[in-house]
Amino acid sequence: MEHQINSWEEYEKVYAESVANPEAFWANVAESFSWKKKWDNVLSWNFDGPDVKWFEGAELNITENCLDRHLAERGDQTAIIWEPNGPKTPEIRLTYKELHAKVCQMANVLKSYGVVKGDRVCLYMPMIPELAIATLACARIGAIHSVVFAGFSANALADRINDAQAKVVLTADGSLRGAKVIPLKDIADEALSHCPCVETVLVAKRSDKFCHMQAGRDVWLGEAMDAASTDCPAETMSAEDMLFILYTSGSTGKPKGVVHTTAGYMVYAYYSFVNVFQYQQNDIYWCTADIGWITGHTYIVYGPLLAGASSVMFEGVPTWPDAGRFWAICDKYQVNQFYTAPTAIRALMAKGLEYVAPYRLNSLKVLGSVGEPINEEAWQWYNKYIGKNQCPIVDTWWQTETGGIMISPLPNITPLKPTYATRPLPGIQPCLLDAEGNELAENDVEGLLAVKFPWPSMLRTTYGDHDRCKQVYFSMFKDKYFTGDGAKRDADGNYRIIGRVDDVINVSGHRLGTAELENVINEHDIIVESAVVGYPHEIKGQGIFAFVIVQEACSQEALEAELKELINTEIGPIAKPDRIQVVSGLPKTRSGKIMRRILRKIASGDVSNLGDTSTLLDPSVVEEIKEAVLGTA
Ligand code: PRX
Repeated sequence: MEHQINSWEEYEKVYAESVANPEAFWANVAESFSWKKKWDNVLSWNFDGPDVKWFEGAELNITENCLDRHLAERGDQTAIIWEPNGPKTPEIRLTYKELHAKVCQMANVLKSYGVVKGDRVCLYMPMIPELAIATLACARIGAIHSVVFAGFSANALADRINDAQAKVVLTADGSLRGAKVIPLKDIADEALSHCPCVETVLVAKRSDKFCHMQAGRDVWLGEAMDAASTDCPAETMSAEDMLFILYTSGSTGKPKGVVHTTAGYMVYAYYSFVNVFQYQQNDIYWCTADIGWITGHTYIVYGPLLAGASSVMFEGVPTWPDAGRFWAICDKYQVNQFYTAPTAIRALMAKGLEYVAPYRLNSLKVLGSVGEPINEEAWQWYNKYIGKNQCPIVDTWWQTETGGIMISPLPNITPLKPTYATRPLPGIQPCLLDAEGNELAENDVEGLLAVKFPWPSMLRTTYGDHDRCKQVYFSMFKDKYFTGDGAKRDADGNYRIIGRVDDVINVSGHRLGTAELENVINEHDIIVESAVVGYPHEIKGQGIFAFVIVQEACSQEALEAELKELINTEIGPIAKPDRIQVVSGLPKTRSGKIMRRILRKIASGDVSNLGDTSTLLDPSVVEEIKEAVLGTA
């Protein structure tokens, strides 16, 4: 594959070049794509705006690079193998030619409902081929896709549709998740009753569930596609035209729409994919993420297709019909590169080796991990029982905002160190800072993780609120992108990500803002005030611990049920608290700020060193909370 690094010496050389002359480096990578017009300028930037432009003046369409470009050489090669929820249901294989035709058909359907370049289209769909097709269909005609994970609730969906002012929504009648069928269209309908901006709803058929179709608004997608032409010229896009919006949680307020643009994202998605997975022609690659998250965008849809890869897309869940499903799929398709999240590894590890034993897993060459720190035990298990000590594990650190993998070993090239994401990819210049923003230039240090030079797939703005982008990412430290993570760099220069240093928690690899959760909990009539913190959780990485003050005595059972239901309605099942503790007060400073540090320690069961509590408004609440949580004062 073009631009693939083959040895450690080459990595060191390429990395040094990429830092010494980033523009020449990225221009060289960009040369291998098909452009309608080449760029005038590789990069212009300042982090004050922020205002970052890559490949300015260039014109292209990313789908021509994902699809059309491959047709002559590998039109009949499989692009996507879709493995359905049920293990006995036949899979669907789409060749590059077939995928191209379907993308064009769907693009024509979108056009026929008035979607034009720059319009926002919201995709609220299960992991069915139509989701990947819809993503590309939007890009084909220059519409900006906003994929909303199908596990989000009606209210969360409505907020995202309204924030982006989406004109069209794509959904399905139902979503099959293991033994369950989720009535996706009903949830979408509930959201849509609050979304006057939506003119058309295209509904894919996936279940036998009846769903209401609103005349004049709702259309069956399959029928519309069958009637559409398989020819759709690709819209000409400028390098910096928006490609997509993806909402993610931050430490304050509502989720924000992270914006990625066209050319830079394309170049980096390709470059990081071929290097981190060392994909070779004819390999079968599988990323288990959902397209509703950034991992699915970059490493199910764009990255693999840009590289002309064959990749698996899985509709179901890892534990159904049993905890061997992932391994069965690896054997079934002879998967070579397998990319999943630590939370899945821990969950499957807990089920026992009898679910791994029946499978050979001999096709695997590279194992990947993403989304949260991978603990040593999970790393060792993954290495020994799945990789049979033969497959390098790439622990890939990145974020929705970075668009692609930033720090990761390159398999069979970078010396591995369990729980370390190791080295930055070429073109990526991470640094560690102290609280004042001074760079910790030596090795063997720990600090705040930032990036000091732009990379092609970095976020450009937060949708509709550029100032928020500046405040959250670029104002903490001058001339640096701040990640929100803390990290350590060992004596050899390897990075280990420690976790979030802000009020964001990472539950099963999903980002949730504690403020967002508190706002929902506080909506309940009985709640006076609440504070939410994360605590170590064996399977999920972090669990959600909610401390609540109630207005009047109530049964713990009823309170838990009601709060969980409320969170379910407002955000979705992924955000349900694991523990709810009623307290009579919260540890606050004299200025009224909640000391979350203390709550985090108590929630984690560690009360050894709570620090100075004498400055608190009422130090006795700490004793009460300790007693309530741990049964000891
Ligand atoms: O805290 C880091 C953690 O996930 C956050 C980004 O979350 P999100 O935008 O949802 O993207 C997840 C998938 C790219 C980061 O700020 N994180 C991600 N990967 C790792 C990680 N923490 C430790 N190790 C990783 N490999």
